[in-house]
Amino acid sequence: MTQDELKQLVGRAAANYVLSNVAQGAVVGVGTGSTVNFFIDELAAVKDRFRGAISSSVASTERLKKHGIVVLELDEVETLPVYVDGADEIDREGHMIKGGGGALTREKIVAMVAQTFVCIADTSKRVDRLGGFPLPIEVIPMARAALMRRLVDLGGDPVLRLAKDQSVFVSDNGNSILDVHGLTIENPEALEIEINSWPGVVTVGLFAQRGANICLLGSADGVERIDY
Ligand code: 5RP
Repeated sequence: MTQDELKQLVGRAAANYVLSNVAQGAVVGVGTGSTVNFFIDELAAVKDRFRGAISSSVASTERLKKHGIVVLELDEVETLPVYVDGADEIDREGHMIKGGGGALTREKIVAMVAQTFVCIADTSKRVDRLGGFPLPIEVIPMARAALMRRLVDLGGDPVLRLAKDQSVFVSDNGNSILDVHGLTIENPEALEIEINSWPGVVTVGLFAQRGANICLLGSADGVERIDY
């Protein structure tokens, strides 16, 4: 199976999960990324069952709207029954590294409001310890150099994310992203709290305090459901 076929498999499994576990007329939280794109495409087939979606990025909003799925503002809902999103890495406790697509801040906000976080991933994302994937951190542009020095002190190797045309990548919120290589992440929750406390950090892409509740993990053998 190709990686895209695995992504499609888990995207379909997530749409089935939502169909079976979320009440008719509910609002669904939607993440960002290539795996989520398959989920959005599957959700489109059953869109009339739901009131609409809360989106975690401009890119997902565009895709949802293209399918005729209503996109609501987060202000319009108090809670969400489910949030479906991908991950760059997920460990055995449901802690994740996210933000490879640069949408980590809005993803964390939507995840905070959701009752159940369903992570969709293929087995290549499952790790024993987080940190093989460079840790994304969204930062206020004026703090970039100062935060890079702090991250070096922490043992990391931060790199300012660039866009495809080599200009500085700008997030949906107008900020920069530092991708930190080489961190040894022994305690994801403690590191999340520490980095988030630094002035200039908007969001660190560690999702440990609020990790996944369920992972739908795709492999050549099918989709395994893991509960945390
Ligand atoms: C975007 C994310 C994505 O969920 C993560 O990067 C996984 O993406 P993909 O499904 O394309 O591998 O956190 O900010």
